[in-house]
Amino acid sequence: MTTQTNHSLLKKHILLGISGSIAAYKIPELIRLLRKKGAAVRVIITNTAKKFITPLTLQTISGNTVISNLIDNSSSDEINHISLAKWADIIILAPATADLIARLAAGIANDFITTVCLASTSPVAVAPTMNNQMYHATVTQDNLKKLKNRKYIIWGPTYGIQACNSIGLGRMIEPLIMVDLINNYFNSKKDFKNIKILITAGPTRENIDPIRFISNYSSGYMGFAIAKEAIKRGAEVTLITGPVYLKTPFGANRINITNCMDMHKQVHKIINKQNIFIGCAAVSDYRSKTIYKHKIKKEKNEINIFLIKNPDIISTVANLKKNRPYVVGFAAESENIKKYAYEKLKQKKLDLICANDISIPNNGFNSKNNKLYLFDKNKSIQLPYCDKNELSHYLLNEIIKRYEKN
Ligand code: C5P
Repeated sequence: MTTQTNHSLLKKHILLGISGSIAAYKIPELIRLLRKKGAAVRVIITNTAKKFITPLTLQTISGNTVISNLIDNSSSDEINHISLAKWADIIILAPATADLIARLAAGIANDFITTVCLASTSPVAVAPTMNNQMYHATVTQDNLKKLKNRKYIIWGPTYGIQACNSIGLGRMIEPLIMVDLINNYFNSKKDFKNIKILITAGPTRENIDPIRFISNYSSGYMGFAIAKEAIKRGAEVTLITGPVYLKTPFGANRINITNCMDMHKQVHKIINKQNIFIGCAAVSDYRSKTIYKHKIKKEKNEINIFLIKNPDIISTVANLKKNRPYVVGFAAESENIKKYAYEKLKQKKLDLICANDISIPNNGFNSKNNKLYLFDKNKSIQLPYCDKNELSHYLLNEIIKRYEKN
């Protein structure tokens, strides 16, 4: 998350449209953060929103007159809806109520916000904010789909407790996250735009009885960091993950699985639509032949658990005859990295393999840092030892170069 003071939004014109939701009380903080980054902020507010936050507060924080009524005798020519529409580099509607979303979807222009949106060619980002039932209502979902089809950007909502005390999807994304998204919108390369990436992450758990399983120490950090970076760069990301304690990267389509067979099934459900497959998961190579229905009792001194081989998911993807994506694998090695990595690259028919030396303390497995060696059929390179978030940036630079040549 971007928290440091910098001027990455210098001279960006941000037009904020606030509609009537309790989350409007968070908008002064958003404006403060945006101005700290150098942005100029102008605010339009609906009449209902004025019941939650005063125009005077917004005017003081933004340093600009707050606009509300469509026909306002006090407003000069400089701030009519057409000039504001041209002024904005981006329009952000936050909080955006179900009502505002419905009016936008229908093309109604009965207040300042909807009129400016209709008159503008600038990108519009919408932060839906409402009770979770209202959010899930078919009509709201249809309206959001309409906006998406018209290239509106939809940010959120997030999951959690709501003002009405219900729990679910419907909270406005937090100002800090919104600033990050705005920052990414203006400052990040969009070299993965229109590219669909499927990433597997974390460990798998292979059950033995109702409470015991075979697994490993994979944290999921690497796969989640790649997902976050790929989304930032415009990719459409699906993350199929084993049990991990990590937050879903904003914008990722997350599918939770437990064991290898589940992961295999979920991967093959959607693989034919993917451009790139990145197998980051530490998949158990074996599973118990029998999953005991009841807890195994410690009656005997020795017991046998018969293991059978799991499918190698990445190999099944790399061997696809139709709609085969570009395939990137990982290898955690404790010795002979180069030799084993090349063998895996060939044996599994991968396009690229990322190998790490897990014999180095704090490297790779269950660690925040990593040092990767990349091997493809032509060459090998070493990426810098760094935090997995930064490493994802370097890794995706290498993947996109090769994917485009492919
Ligand atoms: O063979 P090994 O487990 O070292 O290979 C690692 C690579 O293979 C990783 O990309 C991992 O996600 C993938 N893999 C898989 N299915 C398995 C085992 C490994 O997709 N059953």
